[in-house]
Amino acid sequence: MNGPMTCHRRGPLRGAIAVPGDKSISHRAVLFGALAEGETRVTGILEAEDVRATRRAVERLGARVREEGPELIVTPPERPGEPDDVIDCGNSGTSLRLLAGALAGLPGLAVLTGDASLRRRPVRRIVEPLRAMGADLSARDGDRVPPLVVRGRSLAGARHALAVASAQVKSALLLAGLRAAGETSVTEPERSRDHTERMLRGMGVPLRVDGLTVTVSPARPRGTRVDVPGDISSAAFFLCGAAALPGSEVTVRGLGTNPTRTGLLDVLRAMGAPVTVAGEREVAGEPRADVTVRSADLVATEIGGDLVPRLIDELPVVMVMATQARGRTVIRDARELRVKESDRLASMGEALAAAGARIELFDDGCAIEGPTRLRGVPVRTRLDHRIAMSMAIAQLLGDGPVLLDDVACVATSFPSFFGLLDRLCGGAA
Ligand code: S3P
Repeated sequence: MNGPMTCHRRGPLRGAIAVPGDKSISHRAVLFGALAEGETRVTGILEAEDVRATRRAVERLGARVREEGPELIVTPPERPGEPDDVIDCGNSGTSLRLLAGALAGLPGLAVLTGDASLRRRPVRRIVEPLRAMGADLSARDGDRVPPLVVRGRSLAGARHALAVASAQVKSALLLAGLRAAGETSVTEPERSRDHTERMLRGMGVPLRVDGLTVTVSPARPRGTRVDVPGDISSAAFFLCGAAALPGSEVTVRGLGTNPTRTGLLDVLRAMGAPVTVAGEREVAGEPRADVTVRSADLVATEIGGDLVPRLIDELPVVMVMATQARGRTVIRDARELRVKESDRLASMGEALAAAGARIELFDDGCAIEGPTRLRGVPVRTRLDHRIAMSMAIAQLLGDGPVLLDDVACVATSFPSFFGLLDRLCGGAA
């Protein structure tokens, strides 16, 4: 789906669905599989542009990736080779940052780049700590933004203390650590998603977690089986829509419920939405469950501190939901929103204010006073899938159509989003 789209659906949202595979876990399955010894077999992988970018990248390094029935099979190269062209990571920050860490200790020259959004996103946060391990990297504009050039070198383990909680940075450093002499440790100010730690352990890598510090020793992961759970960051649009839209009840089956990702469920409960989590089980090292959310008269809440990394990607749609809650919802400690696929505080601030929301922006968050009946508006999606999908939900909660200027970005993470939304709306277009 490309170009503009006018949304004019009617709720409530009702039904049971599954959402596509978790994006973070899908990237890791493909990339770690390509670095491993032996095959990795993946089921439930996310079929979307961002993960295709990682797939194309590992193919450039000599890995073979093929579909066999419901499985994606990643066969690593004998020895990862120098890519014969620039690696285009498209819109995907996870591809670019994790690859940089993986390539830093492998022989050869690689150039990593991406679309206009990715070429505005900060990379100094990986360049500097990787250099401290002996890596040879440089990036445009004084190492600030991609393209990023990596010349593989032998690395030495180091101890890193991150200024911001970031699973991408943590993962890049741990991947570099797999090829460095001695131990590499990463300490975060708050815990970010731990899919890398879980998957590497499952692949036989010696890895210790001690509080907020993760330590790895050099090792080659072993090929494994990964079954990817549903992505809570995708489900969030429907769960928040259901909470705010009277008469709604949505169940998402087989949803990833890794505790480093479930901040949204805590927020839904704090705002008064009934949430049930049933049939919890662990598959391939990651928990999953069937999650149901029903509508309620929502109340405002406060979001900050170590909750933020547990729902960072869900905050745009939480901002939409907050326009329907009684009182002043305050989001703090979320400066990272400014360096995602777009400046999400600015993007959502502009779109929601135009729709009539009472919103005040801060450097690191916002305050939203509700409830407000939203109006239809034109929206600039700014190459940011989560802005497009959040404002499609805002339309359901208001009067009048929302005109999204370009919905091509939705294909980066959730190509079936509009189809599933129609289904939950009872087929209404
Ligand atoms: C991701 C980590 C988060 C998140 C991104 C995916 C990952 O980014 O926002 O969508 O897969 O590691 P940061 O690491 O920059 O916080």
